[in-house]
Amino acid sequence: MTERVIIVGAGHAAGQAATSLRQKKYAGEIVMIGDEAYVPYQRPPLSKAFLAGELTVERLYFKPAHYYPDHNVTLKLSTRAESINPSAHTVTTADGESLEYSKLILATGSRVRELPIPGNDLDGVHYLRSIADVEAMHKDFVAGKRIVVVGGGYIGLEVAAVAVKTGLDVTILETESRVMNRVVAREISQFFQNMHREEGATLELGRRVQEINGADGKVTSVICADGFTVPADMVVIGIGIIPNVELAEAAGLKCSNGIVVDEYCQTTDADILAIGDCTRHPNKLLGRHLRLESVHNAIEQGKTAAANIIGEPIAYNQVPWFWSDQYNVKMQIAGMSDVHEQFVMRGDPSTRSFAAFYLQQGKIVAVDAINSPREFMLGKKLVAAGAKIPIKDLADTSKDFKEMATAAIAAASAQA
Ligand code: APR
Repeated sequence: MTERVIIVGAGHAAGQAATSLRQKKYAGEIVMIGDEAYVPYQRPPLSKAFLAGELTVERLYFKPAHYYPDHNVTLKLSTRAESINPSAHTVTTADGESLEYSKLILATGSRVRELPIPGNDLDGVHYLRSIADVEAMHKDFVAGKRIVVVGGGYIGLEVAAVAVKTGLDVTILETESRVMNRVVAREISQFFQNMHREEGATLELGRRVQEINGADGKVTSVICADGFTVPADMVVIGIGIIPNVELAEAAGLKCSNGIVVDEYCQTTDADILAIGDCTRHPNKLLGRHLRLESVHNAIEQGKTAAANIIGEPIAYNQVPWFWSDQYNVKMQIAGMSDVHEQFVMRGDPSTRSFAAFYLQQGKIVAVDAINSPREFMLGKKLVAAGAKIPIKDLADTSKDFKEMATAAIAAASAQA
């Protein structure tokens, strides 16, 4: 058999892996199998400019459609990979086709967490993960309509912001006592809560959705466990995502909240790699294993897998980063704040331009930069270096941030 890499999945990570293989002069065949109808595309704009109707589908593409035939990458779109046989080195698709691989890359990504309540299948109830999902929303996503957003996380808040801008009547229902509970400190949640309310959204915290009501098969209202009811023309549910590990699991690969890989994206099978949202991987900088829902991770693991396959392995070891756009605010997050012991704000949230730092044993482990690109860029370096800046200095805006950061990074490097 000729050398062949099969990539299962056709998302951002898959697109990067194929591109990197060709850039690194991989000479074998590349076959990409994806169940969506589109060439690899960027998902972040789906809940932002694409939902707002400001981008065509083609503008979402990771590479133009002709890139794949031009670079001898065979795309099998609208095709599901059903099973893997690691000993025979084959992938079988839903059409019954069996394809042999030399190396297999699993880039299966994640799927939305569904809300198992009555009425969740009514017309007008949406999830947001794919181009098709957003295209289905556009009909009702017009000024004057009433939208109920379930979940105050990245998806819910970004959809709410675009909906307010478009002129819809917006209500956000969040079960927790604050928004973005999973990723930011209470003070940052408070900032986003204030902003959404100032911009004109209704935000309801501590509301558990129990049922969606409809008439003639179409949504009419959302009912919470405490009886609180909101009329709705459409509902968008954004309550998290789940990694697609079933294919890997059935093939006997080790999975634990993600397909387990090492720093080279190698699974527990010598010829199978995994990349992107679906992986659980080690991060030496942070000293632990992570599953990340992030474009940056998808891209970097795509590159890492390609380097591994062509025999020039480079360990993946980077500071995770994320971003969100809501109204006129860009939040950029560097690092993982979940382990922090101390928290400090720098700047005044009412200006919509400030930063927040998370520290563990005096070291900066994460930064939330709100309309503050400099704090984000330097923040990434501070986290990578394990640098220390006293919280009283971080809070003191009369002290120059760049100077403090540069000195702290140099001090940390000298110690390492
Ligand atoms: N009702 C209301 N809210 C709920 C419910 C529920 N039944 N269950 C969970 N939530 C809330 C959570 O408390 C949280 O605030 O939904 C929010 C989900 O937020 P995220 O975990 O950020 O998930 P989501 O917004 O769906 O985004 C998923 O997509 O934008 C990408 O990669 C990004 O990680 C992000 C992913």
